[in-house]
Amino acid sequence: MDTALIAQKPRPVLKWAGGKGQLLPDLLKRVPDDFDVYHEPFIGGGALFFELAAQGRLRKAYISDVNQALIDVYLALRDDLNEVVSLLKEHQHRHSESYYYRIRARKSSTLTLTERAARVIYLNHTCYNGLYRENQSGEFNVPFGRYKNPTICDEMNLHTVSEVLKKADISCRPFGATLEKARENDFVYFDPPYDPVSTTSNFTSYHKNGFGSKDQADLRCVYTELARRNVKVMLSNSDTPFIRQLYDSYFIIQVYASRAINSKANGRGKIAELIVCSYAP
Ligand SMILES: C[S@@+](CC[C@H](N)C(=O)[O-])C[C@H]1O[C@@H](n2cnc3c(N)ncnc32)[C@H](O)[C@@H]1O
Repeated sequence: MDTALIAQKPRPVLKWAGGKGQLLPDLLKRVPDDFDVYHEPFIGGGALFFELAAQGRLRKAYISDVNQALIDVYLALRDDLNEVVSLLKEHQHRHSESYYYRIRARKSSTLTLTERAARVIYLNHTCYNGLYRENQSGEFNVPFGRYKNPTICDEMNLHTVSEVLKKADISCRPFGATLEKARENDFVYFDPPYDPVSTTSNFTSYHKNGFGSKDQADLRCVYTELARRNVKVMLSNSDTPFIRQLYDSYFIIQVYASRAINSKANGRGKIAELIVCSYAP
């Protein structure tokens, strides 16, 4: 491969609700200096994963998520980059509002892995607000976004990302599977859908099944078991009494981030979030 194409720093390929771009400096400060394998079971756009890769801190990684469309993107970029790039170039060439709706209407089940991946990247970069949202039947339902010149195929970044993904075991599975994979001195970063600050405030529709209090409590059990096995565990979540209570025996750090995912005015502005470490951060 042309080394010029992989010389740059990898950046997330997808804009993702709850993306950790903003919180990165706060998270990086708390990443352990030394660890064996990296695990990120709520990978989403993978802001921390790509940053750690850029810093040369990843030897091997397990990344996963329950969103199959997202996982397909990473699998296709890792295993069939050239085909994804060529499909994206075609989307870029034909891009228009009516073309967007034609591509959106395509049923994932009728497409190949690379076609599905290119479709998700294309829609993610051209849809309104640039985020991934599914309706009750699991279909992508975001309207067309009026961008002047959306970047649909950033070939250089896709090459770099593909190289980074070659270090990763990528799969579609729930977070509990981390218990089977993580070993002593591995590092696990959990970034689950956030516990709602109020009942109406949060974006929770990454996946048609949602993520409720029972899931947060189950996650705490997984966190505790990993910590007991001397796996280094870090988690981010919203600053709510429930989350503080769940993790009260660990190191809790309060940080501030601005949220723009909620269109209501009171959902914007700086809000407190928590980073919870199982080790002295
Ligand atoms: C806050 S986002 C992660 C954002 C990511 N850190 C980033 O920088 O873009 C939460 C992710 O959890 C995934 N998710 C929801 N329920 C899950 C579950 N039970 N197991 C694994 N992943 C799940 C969602 O699909 C979503 O991608």
